[in-house]
Amino acid sequence: MYISKRGTKLLENHQPLVNAHFRCAQDPWAANVNPEGYINLGTAENHLVYDILKTKLNASPGFDEAHTHYSELHGMKCFRDKLAGFLTNTTSHNITADKLAVASGSSAIIDMLMFAMCEPGEGIIIPAPYYAGFDHDLKTRVNVEPIPAYTDAENGFVISQEVLQQALIQAGKRKIKVRGILITNPNNPLGSVYSDSTLKMIIAFAKENKLSIIADELYARSVYGKRNYTSLARLTEEAGVGIHLVYGFAKDFGLSGFKVGALYSTDEKILQVVQQLAYFMPVSNAAQKILYNVLQDEAFLNYYFAENRKRLYAASVHIHEKLNGAGIDTHPTEAGFFVWLNLGKWLSAQTFDAEMDLYTYILDEAKVNISPGQVFHSADPGWFRLCYAREPEMINQAVSRIATVLGKLEQIPA
Ligand SMILES: Cc1ncc(COP(=O)(O)O)c(C=O)c1O
Repeated sequence: MYISKRGTKLLENHQPLVNAHFRCAQDPWAANVNPEGYINLGTAENHLVYDILKTKLNASPGFDEAHTHYSELHGMKCFRDKLAGFLTNTTSHNITADKLAVASGSSAIIDMLMFAMCEPGEGIIIPAPYYAGFDHDLKTRVNVEPIPAYTDAENGFVISQEVLQQALIQAGKRKIKVRGILITNPNNPLGSVYSDSTLKMIIAFAKENKLSIIADELYARSVYGKRNYTSLARLTEEAGVGIHLVYGFAKDFGLSGFKVGALYSTDEKILQVVQQLAYFMPVSNAAQKILYNVLQDEAFLNYYFAENRKRLYAASVHIHEKLNGAGIDTHPTEAGFFVWLNLGKWLSAQTFDAEMDLYTYILDEAKVNISPGQVFHSADPGWFRLCYAREPEMINQAVSRIATVLGKLEQIPA
């Protein structure tokens, strides 16, 4: 049978994170039942909130006949209304249902947005390290080139005008026309929240270089640190520029399995393209109705997010203590459910090959999956991302196993 060149290229794509996720899922750790099993701290999921959500999710959804038939494929109007209200509260920017497109996950939203915004071969600047899935979302179907703007430990992983300018220069050298800049705030994998001054600098840079701004704010309600998150939707409005805002239920709501994402866009035409494409990846009315019920209970939402914040904060304190106690340096966190940690002193050489070797060693020997920095386009080898929104016992077991296998390696003197 003939297989297209695009299909062949896709099959050749090496996806270590996805492979590791399913390897762990086949033999998962459980304290009493399978204490020798794999511990997966490589997937950005919140495992600390299901007990709060479960009554809400398992209550009768109250379907009526309309839910069983076709509805608007970019999201039922009643669901978009509720979502618009929720996003208005979250971002402090007025968002209405007619400016939203709903689809099956934020990845699908980004893929469609790229289709609408860019020609094949054009580029989007993304401050690095960045969420590994963006490579897939940008390149796989639409062939848009991610242009990393590298931040590093030396400058505290802060986005500066210089790193953005450098990315633009690199794109120019490769003759890539840059269409936009994609900012993830709060950030995955760093677990940090950008300051207003950084965000304003980014807006000014985008304006000056005629770049569209895409904001991925999937972790907006998972901020537990001192610094508040400010939505780019609000700041771009103040600056008189447009925004494409991506949101979803995978992170703040711990519902990665529901696959529900949304785009808010101030650009009518781009929005219309995405709304039409949503035909191919809509969300079932059943899932929308369940989430509608969640969104309409404001008292529940207030309780849920307060509790989510509290639990994430406790889990973050715990993971820093554990890792630092094992001699592993960590980047401070204030949001999300991952910590960016440095295993550079255990690399056999300061290279990305050595980093991949260490990753495989930890996965094989400790049976713990954490993600190597290179998949996030880390500027330097040695960094890893660990997702800690897990029960404390699992975290204790994982860190103890990691420390044991690292202990068997000779540390390279600093
Ligand atoms: C920053 C960011 N954007 C998008 C996604 C993808 O979300 P979804 O599962 O809704 O496609 C993730 C998932 O890890 C993410 O961390």
